[in-house]
Amino acid sequence: MSEKTPSWEAARRVVPPRARSPRRPSNVFVGQARRFDADLEAVAVARLDVVPEGARGVPESHALAPEASRVTWTARRGGRLPAGMRWRQEAESRFVVEFALAAGVRCLGLGELYRGSNRRGQTHVLFSSDDPTQTESTPRMYKAIPFLILEDGEQYVGLFVDSPAPQKWSLGNDLSELGRVELLTRRGFQLYVMGPASLPQVVGAYTALTGRSPLPPRWSLGHQQCRWSYPTEKRLLEVAREFRRRRIPCDAVVADIDYMDDYRVFTVSRERFPTFERMTAKLSRQGFRVVTILDPAVKRSRHDATYRSGTAHDVFCRTAAGDPYVAEVWAGKSHLPDFLREDVRKWWGEHLRFFDRMGVAGIWNDMNEPALFNEPAPLDTAVGELPPDDRQLFLQRPPEGPVGHFEVRNLYGSQMARAAYEALLEHRPNERPFVLSRSAYAGHQRFGAVWLGDNASWFEHLRLSIPMLIAMGLSGVPFCGADVGGFGHDADGELLARWYQVAIFYPFLRNHCALGKRPHEPWALGPETERHVKRLIEARYRLLPYFENLFHEHRATGAPLMRPLGWHAAGDATAREIDDEFFLGRDLLVTPIVHRGHSRRAVYLPAGKWHPFDGGEPLRGGRYHDVAIGYGTVPAFVREGAILPLVEPVQHSGEIAGADLTFCCFGRRAAGVYREDDGQSLDYQLGACDEWELEWARGELVAEPTQLGFGGARRRYFVSDGLHRWRIELPR
Ligand code: GLC
Repeated sequence: MSEKTPSWEAARRVVPPRARSPRRPSNVFVGQARRFDADLEAVAVARLDVVPEGARGVPESHALAPEASRVTWTARRGGRLPAGMRWRQEAESRFVVEFALAAGVRCLGLGELYRGSNRRGQTHVLFSSDDPTQTESTPRMYKAIPFLILEDGEQYVGLFVDSPAPQKWSLGNDLSELGRVELLTRRGFQLYVMGPASLPQVVGAYTALTGRSPLPPRWSLGHQQCRWSYPTEKRLLEVAREFRRRRIPCDAVVADIDYMDDYRVFTVSRERFPTFERMTAKLSRQGFRVVTILDPAVKRSRHDATYRSGTAHDVFCRTAAGDPYVAEVWAGKSHLPDFLREDVRKWWGEHLRFFDRMGVAGIWNDMNEPALFNEPAPLDTAVGELPPDDRQLFLQRPPEGPVGHFEVRNLYGSQMARAAYEALLEHRPNERPFVLSRSAYAGHQRFGAVWLGDNASWFEHLRLSIPMLIAMGLSGVPFCGADVGGFGHDADGELLARWYQVAIFYPFLRNHCALGKRPHEPWALGPETERHVKRLIEARYRLLPYFENLFHEHRATGAPLMRPLGWHAAGDATAREIDDEFFLGRDLLVTPIVHRGHSRRAVYLPAGKWHPFDGGEPLRGGRYHDVAIGYGTVPAFVREGAILPLVEPVQHSGEIAGADLTFCCFGRRAAGVYREDDGQSLDYQLGACDEWELEWARGELVAEPTQLGFGGARRRYFVSDGLHRWRIELPR
């Protein structure tokens, strides 16, 4: 640190307690701030690089996609920011960004927060945490995605503070007028302001910068069944058998921590899973994939091969005194690999070959905040400055040199997931990886899916899953879901049926339940619940081609799958404020019941005509309707003018390619795009995808091929106008 930079203590003197008074504290910044401009997909983007005195340039960004290096930035004189944003350094390790929040301006995105869509009225702490007591007062969650979208009528501005250091976003309520980001760093950061532009454009620009999700394997879009735990091979096989016996579609069964020996990573308990490899082979013949959990902590035990190898390769995070940091997690005393190091990610990746040998299809990364039983809240959120590096639990070693853990903590989960994603790509050439993660930083979408962690079996959590997942999509991560039925607490049939009515539209669909809680597999809560849930899961499978098309759209434009109503009805002020409905793509509007005991609800339909998914007279939009929604109903409306590709119900996604597909045309004229690929390989990246532009008019469907690189599925195609169905050939 240079002499000019005030010490931490000196900075505190510069900013005495009255800093908390309304008078703006002085700016103690003496480093370098440089402003750049670029156009990202037709959106004006301003970037500010803030390098504190003594730092060696801004630290490497882990948020940016490799393609972002091709963006041309033009340097601009003066460091002022657009959209009235102001910034200053208030203390040695505290930076502040402020912006006006007029009444009526809404704050969207900002990753995973326990809140409705509008994040105003609370202070959100971005410091990855494992806090399962999720309530209104929970200030911080598992993920940290510092990208906020300001909505002012039909105008949107994106604000991205690219720094994995602790951040506090105080978003004044509707009657206060200030938004304030407090960032605790000594290394500097980059700040981006995007827009003003439309909402799809702002998200397009943000994902052009931080990357887009690759196409997931088709099987991972099917239904997955999990529980903590199916503790034996016998039990996991039984669960899979039940799905087939009851003819409830399912693609994956998931093994939680009890498959391991003594909770040691990269092991299998041979007592409980004597023939794990034979089990996965058998399940695969029945159309099931197996996903296993994987925690980052490696048990400190001389008997453990991963521990010995990790010690030999010096992969573990060390304290300032030089000793490997001791974390307490499931396995007891453990060490944490430093995933910020490329050599460590490679080392971890080599260990993942274990799962190739076991026949495991997907990796579920958990506890990767990292969760520490011995330090559940490692940083007091009230702190106004960063402790010195040697008082941040341990150090990490990115290429630019050692740094205290807190300043990079928010990267831990994504970098662990990245290690798995890159390893699977390498070990299984030409197979799409499936990697699920609990913690995430900006740009995580490049490495796979996320879920919302330990929710509870409450209607409150079902209700909130909608704005929370919409926000994940607006924050760049489209492949997301929440534990269906709720993780903690006990679910009942009504909750489960209502939950599936929403969850069949989650991009990631997994039923999960905590240890000791009442089981809630689709059949566990009685035959009536089972009947409804089965029908709903069947609807999900009928929609799989639609989901796959939406992932293609995301790749092209950055659009999430779950979208707030304002996405497609920007000029409709009523639509913009709705939190308990959402669009799945452009053509489906989901309108579920999210309150116990309710059988009907007020459904708001934006302009246009809307057809009930299960059939019936269309309703006119631009107003509310009182709609009854039974438990087995698919609670959605199809936009008039849409062409929805639906397949016949199947038992698992492996049967999709051969299943009859019907283009359901809504209204007298309709249009759409339909794409098809093999659902599993990476060939789509080389153009192995077929694409048609569809037009429906005067009772005829015209399909114009715009790309023919895949060569076609083995299925028959039909057209339906709601009354009749007839077969067609797709021109190739
Ligand atoms: C964590 C996960 C949960 C998992 C449990 C046991 O709480 O969030 O999904 O079942 O650990 O591994």
